[in-house]
Amino acid sequence: MAVWYHAADLVLSRLDAEDAHGLSIRALKSGLVPRDRRPDPPSLAVQVWGRPLSNPIGLAAGFDKNADVPDALLGLGFGLVEIGSVTPTPQDGNPRPRVFRLPEDRGVINRMGFPGQGLDAALSRLKRRPRRGVVGVNVGANKDSPDRAADYVTCAAALAPYADYLVCNVSSPNTPGLRNLQGRTQLGGLLKRVQDAIAAEPVPLLVKIAPDATDDDLDDIVAVCRDLRMDGIIIGNTTLSRPANLQSPRRSEAGGLSGAPLTALATEVLRKTAQRVERQFPLIGCGGIGSGADAYARIRAGATLVQLYSMLVYEGPPLVRRIKDELAALLVRDRFASVADAVGADL
Ligand SMILES: Cc1cc2nc3c(=O)[nH]c(=O)nc-3n(C[C@H](O)[C@H](O)[C@H](O)COP(=O)(O)O)c2cc1C
Repeated sequence: MAVWYHAADLVLSRLDAEDAHGLSIRALKSGLVPRDRRPDPPSLAVQVWGRPLSNPIGLAAGFDKNADVPDALLGLGFGLVEIGSVTPTPQDGNPRPRVFRLPEDRGVINRMGFPGQGLDAALSRLKRRPRRGVVGVNVGANKDSPDRAADYVTCAAALAPYADYLVCNVSSPNTPGLRNLQGRTQLGGLLKRVQDAIAAEPVPLLVKIAPDATDDDLDDIVAVCRDLRMDGIIIGNTTLSRPANLQSPRRSEAGGLSGAPLTALATEVLRKTAQRVERQFPLIGCGGIGSGADAYARIRAGATLVQLYSMLVYEGPPLVRRIKDELAALLVRDRFASVADAVGADL
């Protein structure tokens, strides 16, 4: 751990998890967090959706819900940053506390329920930023919405001109009923409506699914995505499951579990998804990634890109550089010239 982050961590780890997060956003806004200025190893360069990325390591949705600091986050060395989930209207989410660290397990449980400033706030920030780097926009539905599919359409249509890719998040466990949108008919209808809504200004459209998807769920989800020629699937969101070996006293908090306890499940569901997708579109592996070895295993299981959030809570921004260095060394060790050569190597 870098010295500067060790000092910051002494403060952050003593705060409520959400207060610590707020402080991190403020530090990023004020330019206090050191940037990663070293160029990425050429072997990490990837080409996705016709665009070059200098590395495949992304920041997952949920850290920058309101598009406050996408460019400062790109400056930490991420190859892509995903903002959101953005909902049409502002909402408070669930009562606090609603984010819990599980340090003994290197995990996090959250039941935030999409708190956010809503579409207009995110839109005005995205409009003001320079279009540099890859910034994806993740969209969701308001809790009290009478037509949840319409919420995705509203957000996607408004945000598409300012997004490098769009993600329909149908897998948050903290908005009751949201995961039902992953069913075959519902998902097909929803994604088709979104595709039609952004047809005038097409951007890559992805769907983010739950790592709790069964084999039958995956059959349906992948069939819909292949039919509609989607641009990718993110596998995945937090899990409602609780591995039996969790140590932390907080392990029974309600909500979605993320971080290290999710690694094995997320890798397995990614692999099953990749087998069904047969390279028709790229996959993003997400869940419990905290090292170059984790990222490499996800790439070998079929991911072109990876994303992370929870392990940043424990390791801070220096983690991004470390993962990139470790991943580059693993590619050399196994004689892969590039990330693309290693994608799906274990399938
Ligand atoms: C506090 C918190 C808030 C999150 N909010 C969102 C969100 O708004 N939208 C979303 O798609 N995923 C959200 N996620 C899920 C992450 O994007 C990611 O899919 C999940 O945490 C697994 O990755 P990780 O183990 O690297 O954290 C959130 C996760 C956490 C921990």
